[in-house]
Amino acid sequence: MRDYIVFYINGKRTTIADEAALVSLADLLRDRLRCVGTKVVCNEGDCGACSVLVGRPSEDGQTLIYQTIDACIAFPFQLDRTHVVTVEGLTIAGQLSPVQEAMVRCHGSQCGFCTPGFVIALHGMLEAGMEFTDSGLRYALSGNLCRCTGYVSILQAGQAIDPCKLPRLKLLYPEQVMLEEFKTLESDSVRLSTRDGLVFIPRTLEHAIELRAEHPEATVVSGATDYGVSRNHRKVLAGQTLCLSNVRGFSEVSIHDHILSIGGGATWCAIEQFVKHRVPEYHAILQRFGSPQIRNVGTLAGNLANGSPIADALPFHFVSQAVIELRSVRGTRRVSIEDFYEGYRQSVLANDELITAVETPLPRANERIKLYKISKRRDMDISSVTFGLWLKLEGDVIQEVRLALGGVGPTVQRLLEVESSLVGRNIDEESFRQAGRVARRAISPWTDVRGSAEYRSQLVENLMLKSFYDLQSPDRQ
Ligand code: FES
Ligand code: FES
Repeated sequence: MRDYIVFYINGKRTTIADEAALVSLADLLRDRLRCVGTKVVCNEGDCGACSVLVGRPSEDGQTLIYQTIDACIAFPFQLDRTHVVTVEGLTIAGQLSPVQEAMVRCHGSQCGFCTPGFVIALHGMLEAGMEFTDSGLRYALSGNLCRCTGYVSILQAGQAIDPCKLPRLKLLYPEQVMLEEFKTLESDSVRLSTRDGLVFIPRTLEHAIELRAEHPEATVVSGATDYGVSRNHRKVLAGQTLCLSNVRGFSEVSIHDHILSIGGGATWCAIEQFVKHRVPEYHAILQRFGSPQIRNVGTLAGNLANGSPIADALPFHFVSQAVIELRSVRGTRRVSIEDFYEGYRQSVLANDELITAVETPLPRANERIKLYKISKRRDMDISSVTFGLWLKLEGDVIQEVRLALGGVGPTVQRLLEVESSLVGRNIDEESFRQAGRVARRAISPWTDVRGSAEYRSQLVENLMLKSFYDLQSPDRQ
C-alpha cells in the first residue's frame, strides 16, 4: 500500500503525501504551485473558469486520454496516476497556443477572467476528437460562462481554429515516461494519513467494500461534484474519505438481455457516449445534465446516493423500473429504485454498502419513453421539473403506463392515478389532456426560486400534452 500519490502537472512530476491532497485542485494549482492562470469564480463547478485537462491511462495503458474537468471541485487525491494540464501548459515555447491566438484575433476576451477556462475547453475538443462546428462548440462550451464578452465572438474564435495546426497534448508532453511510471504503480492502493484526515484510494472493488465496512463514517467520493461544493461552500471538514475513482473494473456500461447495466464508477460521460444511439431519449436528457466538465467525473451512483429529487436522470430509471445493486461485506442485495428512497435525500443505502451497479430494462418495440427536463436556462441549470413517461402499446391502445415526476415532492413520484386513467385508452389528444388534468390534481408541488407551485402544476399538465404530440413525431423534442 502506497502512502503518497503521484501525478504530473504540465509534464512535471509531483508527489503528495500530506493534507495538500485534501485541498481543491484549483487551490493547489494557484496557491501552492503558482499556476494562477486557472481562475476561480463560482467555486462550485458552475462556470468553468477553473477548467483544466486531466489525462488518465487508457484501458490498455498505451496512451493518456484527456478530459476537461472543473479544478475547483476536484481534489488531488482523485488524481493519482494522471497528468494535469493547465492553461500555462498549452503555450508552445512561450508563445500563445493557436486557441489563445484565435481568442485574441476574434475579440473573444474582455476582462479575461473566463478566458483560460474557454481555452482549456476548446483544446479539450481537440483531445476528444470533436469538430469545431457551431453545434460542437455550443455543446463543448456549455460548461463555461462568460459575463462580459458575449458568446458570439467566442464561438467565432472557436470556428477560426484550424485543428490541424493545434498540437495534441501527446506531442507537447511525450507520454512514455509518465505511462511507464503509471504502469509500475498500477496495482497500488493508496492510504494517505494527513493532518486533516485519512484518505483511502482502493484499486479493487473487494478492497473498497472492506474499507467501507471498516470505516462506515468515511465519506464516499467518486466524481466529487457534490463533495466539492460541500467542502468549498459549507466548509465541511475532510475527515475520512473513501475515494472510488481508481477502482478497476467498476465503470463498465453494457447491455445484456435488453438491460442497460451501469457500473457504480461509470461517469455520465461514459454513459452518454454509450447510450447515444442505443437509448436516444435518455441521451438527450444526459446532454443537458450539468456540463461536459461535470459529466466527465460525476457518476450515476453518486447521483443516486445523493438523492436529490430533481436529479435529471432519475425519471428514466424510475419509469424503466431500474434495480440498484448494493454490496457490502455482508453480501449483495438488489433494490428496486422505487424502494431505494425513503424520503427527502434519505435512502435504504446502509453505511457499510456501496452502489455497485444500476440495471435498467430498455424499452422494447411496443414500448415508448418520453423524458423532459424543464429548467430556466437550457444548459447548466437545475431542473424545475423532470418528467418521465413509459407506455406499452398494442396498436393505438395503451396497455400499461408508468409516469414519474421530479421537482414536485421530496422524492421522485410515480403518479398511479394518472397511469390508471390512461390504461385502456387510445393514444389520442383527449386522453392526454385528461391525464394532464388528473396529474395536476395529484401533485402538491412547492414554491421556490425555480418556480411557483402554480407554475410547476401547469408545467406537469402541459408536459402530458406535449408527450402526446412528441409521441406522434419521434424526432420532436
Ligand atoms: Fe466556477 Fe470552478 S470556479 S467551475
Ligand atoms: Fe470577462 Fe468572459 S471575458 S467574463
